[in-house]
Order: sequence, then structure tokens, then C-alpha cells
Amino acid sequence: DKGNHRHFMEKEIHEQPEVISHTLAHYLDFSAGTVGNFDLPFDFAGIERMAISACGTAYLAGLISKYWFERYARLPVDIDIASEFRYREMPLPKNSAALFVSQSGETADTLASLRYCRSAGVPIGAIVNVRESTIARESDGIFPTLAGPEIGVASTKAFTCQLSVLASLALKAAKARGTISAEQERDFVRQLSEAPRYAAQALKLSERIEAVARELSHVRHVLYLGRDTSYPLAMEGALKLKEISYIHAEGYAAGELKHGPIALIDEQMPVIVIAPYDRIFEKTVSNMQEVAARGGRIILITDREGAAKATLKTLETIVMPDVPEFVAPIAYALPVQLLAYHTAVIMGTDVDQPRNLAKSVTVE
Ligand code: M6R
Repeated sequence: DKGNHRHFMEKEIHEQPEVISHTLAHYLDFSAGTVGNFDLPFDFAGIERMAISACGTAYLAGLISKYWFERYARLPVDIDIASEFRYREMPLPKNSAALFVSQSGETADTLASLRYCRSAGVPIGAIVNVRESTIARESDGIFPTLAGPEIGVASTKAFTCQLSVLASLALKAAKARGTISAEQERDFVRQLSEAPRYAAQALKLSERIEAVARELSHVRHVLYLGRDTSYPLAMEGALKLKEISYIHAEGYAAGELKHGPIALIDEQMPVIVIAPYDRIFEKTVSNMQEVAARGGRIILITDREGAAKATLKTLETIVMPDVPEFVAPIAYALPVQLLAYHTAVIMGTDVDQPRNLAKSVTVE
């Protein structure tokens, strides 16, 4: 049932404040300001590396979490696309652990990667939305996302719930490894507790985003740029746009612009920049200047401070609420999803059942 919504995707985008809140409450103790006492299939203090592997949007959630695990828990993470991991014959050292991310829990390549780790004797955790799935069954421990059934082929609420679990796990790891103080833990838990509110505020930008989408619906190619955790989000934006609107889109690390993609920039090529105001914002501004100097149109998704600091001629902005750096990827996922959604609706594609795609990819 789509309720008042035109598509399941729209409904699922709008459910995010609620399902993020449910998911976080499963892993965090908000009143105590601490990470909860949930079971783990491995001891974060005893491992030296963690391998994460997944496909599509779930892979991009894993890629964002690499920044979190490494920055806050000082835990090195190897992240791979599951179809590569399963044949890569990666050596899995002693004292390592493996984590798999899958909404359906049935993705063939992710399952094969899990079995590779099983044969290597590495402890296995899985973040799944379907608790009765094969990946859940074959893991040593599961971390459920509480997103509820996701019907739209384009993953939206499962993604932000995966991020919510991964952020909680990163805090769990940081605590176990002694890399954050009790005060920092309280602070991060409080920041995460605000994520549903940021998501709700982001939903209010829907009309503004629809106006931007109207322009996108006339173009053939779009480039998405971001740095740090906004880099995987740029790739997620490009994935979402291509899968439901069939517009060719690429997501790049902003710093890679001059290593190739800048050659594509002309008046016909919109560049969507995801850049909350943070310690590397200025670096992204110089990338935007390079785009503007070549006549490229920029759509900047940022906050108030970022919008005030980036004064370029060819610029349109989507202004987000002020969000702490740690939770920014969860909040910024929403405008990225809405942009793809509105573009596809304007173009009249089958948003919930895009051509050539299946919700669950159970064959290689
Ligand atoms: O069920 P899974 O999370 O394992 O699925 C992984 C991908 O197939 C999935 O995220 C796909 O990329 C989505 N259609 C993206 O919106």
C-alpha cells in the first residue's frame, strides 16, 4: 500500500525519519548517551582489519562506513564490491573480521563472498533488512536494519538504515578500541539521535528539489562530485539517477576532477556537488570554480554556511539544515534520493520498477 504517495519509492523516502529512529534505538541507549549492549560475532578490540563487501547501494553504505571505522575507531577497513571480492583471492589475515551489507540478504555475489570468508575461517557479521534471508542464516551474527519491507527497486530507506547501523557499529568499535572518550561517545550518540530530525527537515526541501529536477530532466549526462563521505554519496546519487531516470550519471571524488572528468565539462553538463561546510569545503569550492570557469552549471547541496561561502555565478543551491560531520551522510542521502526521484517522475519512467532491473539479484 502506497498510502498517499504516488510511488513506493516516494513513500519509502518519506518513511526515513521513522525507520532511522527505530534502527538507531536498537543499537544506542539514548537516555544513557551510550552505545547499547548488543552481541557481536567478533571482538572489535581484538581485530586488526575488517573486510566489508556488498553490491550497489549497500556497497556505497559500506564505503561511507570505511571513513567512520578508520577515523573514529582507527580500524583499517578493506571495502570491496562483492562480485570482485569473491574472485579476488584476498588473503584474510588472522585477527580480521568480515562484514556483509545486504538489504535482501539474498544477493548472489555477496553470499559467495561470505562463503569465501567462511572457508577462510574469519568471523562473519551481516547487516540485513530481511532477517530470514540466506545471508542472515549463514552469518555468525546479524545486525538488522529496521527499515521494514522495501518495495521500490531503488534502495532508499534501507540505505539510510544501513548507515545508521554502520555508524553505531563504528562507535561500538571506537569504544572497544579505546579511541573515543566517554564524553565523545555521549556526543556522537546525541548527534546520531538527531539524525531522524535532520531527515525530516531534508524532506521539506522536496519542492525546491523538484524545481532543480525539472532542469535535469532535459540533460543527457550528469556529474556528481563530493569529498570524504560525500564521495560515496556522489556515487550513490549517480547510481540512483541512472537507475530510475536512465540519465547517464557518474559520481567522482571531487579531487579527481582534474585527472580526467573535467574534459567533459561544458554548458550541457550539470555538476551536482555534495558539500556540507566542513574542514575540506574550501577544496571543493576550488573544484567548483574550475567547473564554473568552463561554463559548467553547478547544483550545490550544502548548508547555510556553505551557501554563503560559495558565491559563484552559475550556481544553484539546495540548502540543508546544519548537521554535524559524523551524521551528514545520513541526512544528505535524502536530497540525493529526492533529486533522482523527481527527475524520474518528470520524465515519466516506471520509478518503482525501472527497466532491466530486479529488486533482488540472486544470480551472478
Ligand atoms: O539486497 P542488496 O542490498 O544486497 O542489493 C544490493 C544492490 O543490488 C542494490 O543496492 C541495488 O544497487 C539497488 N537497486 C540500488 O538502488
